[in-house]
Amino acid sequence: MHVNPLHPVFAAEVTGVDFTAPAQRQPVRDLHDAIHRYGVVVFRNERPPTDEQHVAFSRLFGPVEVGPMFKITGDKKRIDNPALVDVGNLDADGNIMQPDNRRMLFRKGDRLWHADMSFHHNRATYSLLLGHEIPPEGGDTEFADMRAAYDALPEKLKTLIEDLTVEHSIWHSRGLAGFPQPTEEEIESRPPAHHKLVHTHPGSGRKALYLASHASHIVGWPVELGRDLLKMLMRFATQPQFVYRHTWKLGDLLMWDNLATMHRATEFEDTKYRRDMRRATCRERPIDLSAAA
Ligand code: OGA
Ligand code: MN
Repeated sequence: MHVNPLHPVFAAEVTGVDFTAPAQRQPVRDLHDAIHRYGVVVFRNERPPTDEQHVAFSRLFGPVEVGPMFKITGDKKRIDNPALVDVGNLDADGNIMQPDNRRMLFRKGDRLWHADMSFHHNRATYSLLLGHEIPPEGGDTEFADMRAAYDALPEKLKTLIEDLTVEHSIWHSRGLAGFPQPTEEEIESRPPAHHKLVHTHPGSGRKALYLASHASHIVGWPVELGRDLLKMLMRFATQPQFVYRHTWKLGDLLMWDNLATMHRATEFEDTKYRRDMRRATCRERPIDLSAAA
């Protein structure tokens, strides 16, 4: 396996990994080193690995999300594999979704900078997104390094934010993205979660900002004051020097560390072009299925 950096502070392409190989033959140690150091790792494939290979590979990095993380009223599933999240623009019949489709509106929230599942007490560690169909133009994904951003903060600001706790809610970010008023069923399916604003990234031991569009306010602060601080930090952390932009090719598997980076989808003509992307998500702790039921 070879590691080729793609950006001055993070992100690398890894070559020489065979997704058809059994788990025990994968270079697990080197893969962990690469994702810990680079935060974003790109694997290029001539053809996309199968859903089963995708999930099996993802399990090398921790417990993989199973089952729905929240309820979208009226949504029907397209992909059978319960370990994969459907993040493209196709409906259950494989057609491009109508612009007023609730899941289509919901996915627009991915165009705001975020860390996956920060709204959950059992957060996403790694996400592994595989490109099955790529639009001919647009639909890049951007990443920002939250360790480099933290390092670059003025010392006074580092001191101010050191011990702050943030409330994250999926319904907050969806509101920002223009998702209609959530239903009772939707709200109840995913209550908010609290996380430290500054944490130590487990993989590298470096301090990092833990930010996301799901971040609603600072616990114990007046809501608007907290929002202003969060907005300012989001702007700071997503400056061009901290950002890598990925242009997709068919078969690309992108892996990122949600505890060290933020990401966002970018625009494409989503009522004209097909985009089929599937995501496996590793979690901080094993998934409690009894609680999910
Ligand atoms: C995701 C996500 C961005 C994209 O899958 O978590 O935010 O470009 N995807 O599809
Ligand atoms: Mn995401």
